[in-house]
Amino acid sequence: KEYNVAILGATGAVGTRMIQQLEQSTIPVKSVKLLASAKSAGKQLSFKGQPITVEETTPDSFDGIDIVLSSAGGSVSKKFLPEAVKRGAVCVDNTSAFRMEPDVPLVVPEVNEEALKDHHGIVANPNCSTIQMVVALEPIRQAFGLNQIIVSTYQAASGAGQSALNELRQETQDYLEGKDMQADAKILPTKGDKKHYPLAFNLLPQIDVFEDNGYSHEEWKMIHETKKIMLNDMDAKDIKVTATCVRVPVPIAHGESIYFTVDDPTVTVDQLRAVLKDAPGVVLQDDPAHQIYPQPINAVGKRDTFVGRLRADEENPGSFNMWVVADNLLKGAAWNTVENAERLVANGLV
Ligand code: A2P
Repeated sequence: KEYNVAILGATGAVGTRMIQQLEQSTIPVKSVKLLASAKSAGKQLSFKGQPITVEETTPDSFDGIDIVLSSAGGSVSKKFLPEAVKRGAVCVDNTSAFRMEPDVPLVVPEVNEEALKDHHGIVANPNCSTIQMVVALEPIRQAFGLNQIIVSTYQAASGAGQSALNELRQETQDYLEGKDMQADAKILPTKGDKKHYPLAFNLLPQIDVFEDNGYSHEEWKMIHETKKIMLNDMDAKDIKVTATCVRVPVPIAHGESIYFTVDDPTVTVDQLRAVLKDAPGVVLQDDPAHQIYPQPINAVGKRDTFVGRLRADEENPGSFNMWVVADNLLKGAAWNTVENAERLVANGLV
C-alpha cells in the first residue's frame, strides 16, 4: 500500500523539516499535500525534487488523506485534526493540543512504541525537551529503576518557531552594530505573554506561560509528559520529576543537564555507560580526557540523542549527572513525528 500524506504547517521551522524527514523515510508515499495558512497559499516547495504548491488549510483539505503530520500550533490542530480523523486520516500531531487526552497515545518510539496501537486517529508527539530526556533515561530506568529526575534545560530559539529564530538573528546583528535590540523583541520569551525580552546575549528563564504554582508551562510539560510516556500516568508518583527550562541564544539543538537517582544505589557510571552505548537512538559522546561531549552545533541535522558528561554524585550513592543534546527540530519534532508515522505504517495501524 502507498499513502497520501498531508503536512499541516509545512512552511514552518518544523514543517519544512517534516518534508525532508518524509523524503528520507521508509513510508511508501503516493502523494504529498502541503498545507499552511492563507498567507502562504501559492508558495512553491518541493518533495523529492517535485514542486508542490502550498495550499490554505480547510476541512476538505483532508479528503482522501491517509496520514497527517501536523505542526501548525495547538489551536490549528484543535480545529483541523478532528476534521481529518472524521475523513479517515491518522494524525501525528507535534503540538500540545491533544497530548494529555487519555485516549491519545503520547509516543517516543524508542520508549513506548507499544502505545501506538491504542490510537483513535490521533497520536501526539511529546514536547521537544521531554523527547530527548526520555530517550536518554528510559534505558536506564529499564535496567536499574528510576526514582527521581531533576532537569535544567538550555533550549534553542527555534523551539519557538521560525519567527523566534529570525528575531534572535536580528537582535544579534543589531547588538553587534551597536543598535538598540530591545525593540526587536516581539515574540520571545513567548507569544502568549504580555512582555517581550531580547534573547541575544541573554538567558530567558521563561518558556511558555506561567502556571499558578510558579512553574512555566514548559516545565509542567516536562514533568507530566515524562510520567505519561514512561508510566502511562501523567500524575504518577513513583518517578519524581522537577524541571527548570531556560531559553538560550542558540539557534538549533537543546541541551539538558539531568540529575537522576536510580533505585539501586550500587549502580556505577560504567554500568550506565554500558546501557547507554547500546540504547536505541542514543549516541554516547563521553570522553572527558579527550574533551569529547555533546554540543548543539554538532547535533544539528542529526536524528540521534547525544549523551555525555556522565558522572556520579559522590555524596549520594545511586545519583548521577549527565548532559544530553539533540536537534529540537528533528528528534524533538519533525523526526519523532515521521518516526511515529513509520511505526504506525510498519505495524499496520494506519
Ligand atoms: P504560514 O507560513 O502560512 O503562517 P512556525 O512553528 O515556524 O511558526 O510555523 C508555523 C506553521 O503553521 C507555518 O507553516 C504556518 O503557516 C502554519 N500556520 C499558522 N497558522 C495557521 C492556520 N491558521 N492554518 C494553517 N496553518 C497555519
